[in-house]
Amino acid sequence: MIEFDTVYNRRNTNCSKWDSIKDTYGEDGLLPLWIADMDFKANQPVLDALKESVEQGILGYSPAPDSLYEAIQSWQKRHHDYSVNKEAILFNSGVVPSLSLAIQAYTEPGDAILIHDPVYPPFAKVVEQNDRKLVRSRLLIEQDHFVMNLEEIEKQIITENIRLFILCNPHNPGGRVWTKSELEAFGKLCAKYDVLVVSDEIHQDLIFAPHVFTTFTNVHSTFKDFSITLTAATKTFNLAGIKNSMIFIENPDLRKKFLVAQERNSQNEINIFGYVGTEAAYQNGDTWLEELLVYLKENIDTVSEFLKAELPEVNMMRPEGTYLIWLDFSALGLTDAQLQKQLVHKGKVVLNPGISFGPGGTQHMRLNVACPKETLLEGLRRIKNAFE
Ligand SMILES: Cc1ncc(COP(=O)(O)O)c(C=O)c1O
Repeated sequence: MIEFDTVYNRRNTNCSKWDSIKDTYGEDGLLPLWIADMDFKANQPVLDALKESVEQGILGYSPAPDSLYEAIQSWQKRHHDYSVNKEAILFNSGVVPSLSLAIQAYTEPGDAILIHDPVYPPFAKVVEQNDRKLVRSRLLIEQDHFVMNLEEIEKQIITENIRLFILCNPHNPGGRVWTKSELEAFGKLCAKYDVLVVSDEIHQDLIFAPHVFTTFTNVHSTFKDFSITLTAATKTFNLAGIKNSMIFIENPDLRKKFLVAQERNSQNEINIFGYVGTEAAYQNGDTWLEELLVYLKENIDTVSEFLKAELPEVNMMRPEGTYLIWLDFSALGLTDAQLQKQLVHKGKVVLNPGISFGPGGTQHMRLNVACPKETLLEGLRRIKNAFE
């Protein structure tokens, strides 16, 4: 059994989650349940592999080894029924840097790019920082979960002349695991109007049964022609600091363009610990992930029960995947600024403000439950205190 209950003191370890919030909010003693990393130790075989790499002592330039490709291919096949070709696999230091490269590789300044609203904030940022036109499609809520507004997307593709869609699959912050049929309908629309799909699948392993993750490229035999996939082991195995991610590009033409953008930005060399950690995580991670998912599901149940009993005004969107929970505080009638102020300065707890995920996130907050139960319960008590 993996020990997920252990509470580690991460303060003063130079970690963003715990150590940056004092500067941001000007207060000591805040409890962080925000940024998407976990308060769990990495799997021991990953730490051992990193240690071994350090101990051999010479840390020069290193290419990706064959054993890494094999570990990735095996993981994708076993976990996602995706047979990815070796030549389709590229590496980069992160999914977000790859979003930026994809924008540069496949679009021109001024081109329109569509994203969902709400969605992971860097999507909007990379579009705007690359001087492309940002267009958002508001997600609809049906039976307490997000669904895509395909009718609106089709209109936007036509009127805004959309060139590229950045898809979050599964969806952060809503925890939606898009079904194969939803992805098929969405993909057919993109194919019809020649819209390229960049599918961010970094949360692909964090899925709660009976939900099933489908890699976008795998939905239909033609989807690999107009899509690329971004993913990593870093979210699944809590290794964000080693900075490594993969890009799967089956279409040779799209691959060539991406490689040109990568070289132009000198982003084609990855740090050795990224390679080592990713390989060890995929080779040894099955049991760790299985146990993690059980623990996360219990934490999600804990939040659900707590809110029902103690804060029934706050509505929770139950995640089908990810360790993130989208909370609706609109019944409290507070502005985004008031909501944030009460949570931070009265409750002493830090969540991600929903408004940072786009206008559709107003009066919401994103809660990260990837922490020991003790930490989560303390966080929930603080959330309650914020509104007493
Ligand atoms: C949807 C999504 N994409 C990308 C990232 C970050 O990826 P990276 O650290 O590889 O840039 C995150 C982190 O939370 C995320 O939620």
